[in-house]
Amino acid sequence: MNKASKTGVDITQAKRLLEENHVVAIPTETVYGLAGNALDIKAVATIFSVKKRPSFDPLIVHTHSIEALGEFVADIPEQAQLLAKAFWPGPLTLLLEKKEIIPDLVTSGLNRVAVRIPNHPLTLALLQSLSFPLAAPSANPFGYISPTTAQHVTDQLGDQVAYILDGGASNIGVESTIIGWENGKATVMRVGGLSIEAIEAIIGPVHVQAVSSSNPAAPGMLKSHYAPRIPMRAGNIETLLQTYAGKKIAVLSFQQAYPAAYKNYILSPEGNVTEAAQHLFAAMRVLDTSEADIILTEYVPAVGLGLAINDRLKRACAEEV
Ligand code: TXA
Ligand code: MG
Repeated sequence: MNKASKTGVDITQAKRLLEENHVVAIPTETVYGLAGNALDIKAVATIFSVKKRPSFDPLIVHTHSIEALGEFVADIPEQAQLLAKAFWPGPLTLLLEKKEIIPDLVTSGLNRVAVRIPNHPLTLALLQSLSFPLAAPSANPFGYISPTTAQHVTDQLGDQVAYILDGGASNIGVESTIIGWENGKATVMRVGGLSIEAIEAIIGPVHVQAVSSSNPAAPGMLKSHYAPRIPMRAGNIETLLQTYAGKKIAVLSFQQAYPAAYKNYILSPEGNVTEAAQHLFAAMRVLDTSEADIILTEYVPAVGLGLAINDRLKRACAEEV
């Protein structure tokens, strides 16, 4: 089968392949996922091996309804129920106590499982047609930039997935916000596609965990994640342009144009962080396939999805977070 024929909108084919324990790339509103039967350890093991992901980094389980969740989650705290009702389907992942049916491989031995209902019509229809939930990390090789189009998946994992369900470009563009409860207190473990402001409007103040790379509570919080191959530096672009004068420089800017750069990708000419999030990973990929020696970038305003953008930029620069 050539790479092209593997991509399409055939939910029946995706379903059949998943029932045969193959891995299939699925579109979501955040990023594309590399999906397999969450209840089958062979399928789950295939996900880890295709992604070259270390087994200590657990997977998110995707389902289609809050009712279906009861099958594999033991308890849903009241705040979690409020958030689920407010934001699912959507870019929110909840860490909840797991039932036996979820293999330890999915949670890397932890007693909580990460769950979410993604907001994409193709993937919701697929999940509804299946008798099992789907474990799915982002469909990129471990440590590289997450994919936001079917083409991104084809480029890197096309040979290794059975099928790529093409749902167009992900319209949020950064991974889901992960929230768990520590001693009854809501804690954001990964900033993402659902803003802290939106969460706090429903359940009040939450703690946002700054996770160190040596002790990651959510290992996707490791530094040097989401990293392009070309070195990347963040800061004041004008200053950085002087520092790296003489090099072939690509610039990933928020709003402003830098015509002096060899390549310049502007995330949002209007200065809108939501639009910038949509374009972030595609922009990083475009610049990473250029001939540049270095990619220079800048942080965006820390409001709304700006927090998630800045977090991904920091990690891409492999700075300590
Ligand atoms: O938007 C998303 O969340 C996408 C789409 C495909 O749903 N998925 C995604 O998966 O970003 P992944 O595997 O790239 O990142 C999942 C993060 C990892 O940092 C992982 O460590 C954390 O979730 N995680 C998963 N299960 C966990 C658990 N039981 N306890 C703590 N962290 C967990
Ligand atoms: Mg990932």
